[in-house]
This record gives sequence, C-alpha cells and structure tokens, in this order.
Amino acid sequence: MPYKTFKQTVKNTYMDRLDFFYRHFTGQQDMPPWSLRHFVGGANDFQEIGAAFLREIKGYGLLKKDMNILDIGCGCGRMAYHLEKDAEARTLNLRYTGMDIDHRCIAWCQKNLAPKTPAFQFFHANIHSESYNPRGPVNENEYRFPLDDEAFDLIIMSSVYTHLLEQAMQNYLKECARMLQKDGILYATFFTYQDEHEARNGSARRPLIYPCYHEHIAFANETFPEAAVAYQIDYLRKTIASCGLVEERPPVFAYQDIFFLKRA
Ligand SMILES: C[S@@+](CC[C@H](N)C(=O)[O-])C[C@H]1O[C@@H](n2cnc3c(N)ncnc32)[C@H](O)[C@@H]1O
Repeated sequence: MPYKTFKQTVKNTYMDRLDFFYRHFTGQQDMPPWSLRHFVGGANDFQEIGAAFLREIKGYGLLKKDMNILDIGCGCGRMAYHLEKDAEARTLNLRYTGMDIDHRCIAWCQKNLAPKTPAFQFFHANIHSESYNPRGPVNENEYRFPLDDEAFDLIIMSSVYTHLLEQAMQNYLKECARMLQKDGILYATFFTYQDEHEARNGSARRPLIYPCYHEHIAFANETFPEAAVAYQIDYLRKTIASCGLVEERPPVFAYQDIFFLKRA
C-alpha cells in the first residue's frame, strides 16, 4: 500500500471513531461516517452543504411532483439524505437513483438510506478513476449506464464533471442526453475559465488555480489530473452541443459553475 494511502487509512480509522461519539452526542447518528464525508469533500459541513444544495435545486424550480431523479456520482448520499429528510420533498412522490464508483459510499447508502425510502435506490459501477477508484476495471470513456433511454426528469451531476477528463466528460454528456426525458434537465457543475490567465491565476469567484494548462483543459495537479479539472468555456459549450445537449437557461457562475442542460 502506498504511504499516502496508508496514512489516510490510519487517519480515517481514528477520525471515524472520534466522529462516532460526536454524531451520537449531537443526535446525528444517521449521518455518514467522517471518512465518507471527507471522501466527497466536506467532512465538517455535510449538513450545511447538503441543505444549501437542496435549497438551490428547489430555488431553480427543478424539483417537481412524481419526478424520476438520477444522481451520478452521488458519493455518500448528500443529496438523497437531504431529500429524504425534507418535509416538502417527501410529499413529492420522488423516485431517486444514486450511482457512484466508490463501493464504500454506495454500500453505506444502500444500508442506511435505501431502507428509509423504498423509491430510493443506489448502485455501484466499478469504473476506473485514478483519483477515486484506481483499481476499477471499467473504462469511464465507454461506460454505458444500465438505465433506460429517456428515463429521467432530472439528472444531477454535482462536483463530478470537475473530476472527468475529456473523453469521459463527453461520454457522460452523451449518456445524460440518452437518459433524459424530452423536457428533462441535467443540472451539472463544472470548473470553467475564459483564458490562460484566468486558469493560471484563478479569479475572484474561484481562487483555485490550474497551473497545468493545456489550452482547452487545465488541471490543478498534473500527477492526479482528475483531482480538479477545468475546461475553457467556449470549448465546453461546443462539446455540450456536439453531445446532443443545449443550455436550458444561462449558467450560474459561482465557485463551481452550474449548467442547466436539456436535449437538443
Ligand atoms: C466531490 S464528490 C461529490 C459527491 C456528490 N455529488 C456530492 O455533491 O456530495 C465526487 C464524486 O464523484 C464520484 N466520481 C468520480 N468519478 C466518477 C465517475 N467516472 N462516475 C461516477 N462518479 C464518479 C466520486 O466517487 C465522488 O463520490
């Protein structure tokens, strides 16, 4: 085992034990353990980020009665956890499918979230990602989701395209176009930049810099490019169009830029 992985495993074990007592004494036993919250980014603000995310989705008018939702890269269920708890969402008769390439996250969701809401299901895809699932045998550039055409009203990809390289990004965009219903929406976040200066130096909304600059794609770290991937915005827009999607409304430029896409 590489030293870095060993160090993280020791830290996870230690923090999960401490966190067990923290969750118990603060009445948050139903939250995922520290190591899974840390894995998706946000060990200490799982509740705040999840609640804000749900508020956003509702604020954009994306949550509607009887919807079928697909959450690609659902992690340890931050969205599902909040949908399940939210009084309004519970009245909407939602169906929800969460998919991720991390088997620990999916195992936790299947054990802890699925039994609470029978219309919620989760599945693991053993897809290779250098940063997230280095031993996975399945090629993310060619992966076909085992889900029907035109099955979903809303597909969520929050902080997932920010970890996909070009071919995988294109494949997932095409798969989303295939799985979206005619009026369905893909809610997807990206890191984007206008030019080399912005990629290399960051901007007011996003201080993150991408020193490994390759014209239309840039990485924060060349050794682990999937750790943080940014796309030049005109290139991204052309790619979106070539994958059979169009913008349903203008993007929201924030720390991660939010795109609202529908079938062309
Ligand atoms: C930053 S986390 C975000 C998790 C979740 N969407 C959320 O907002 O809480 C990124 C997630 O994407 C997943 N992921 C990475 N590559 C993926 C791929 N090719 N397909 C599906 N999920 C992927 C990771 O396992 C991880 O759970």
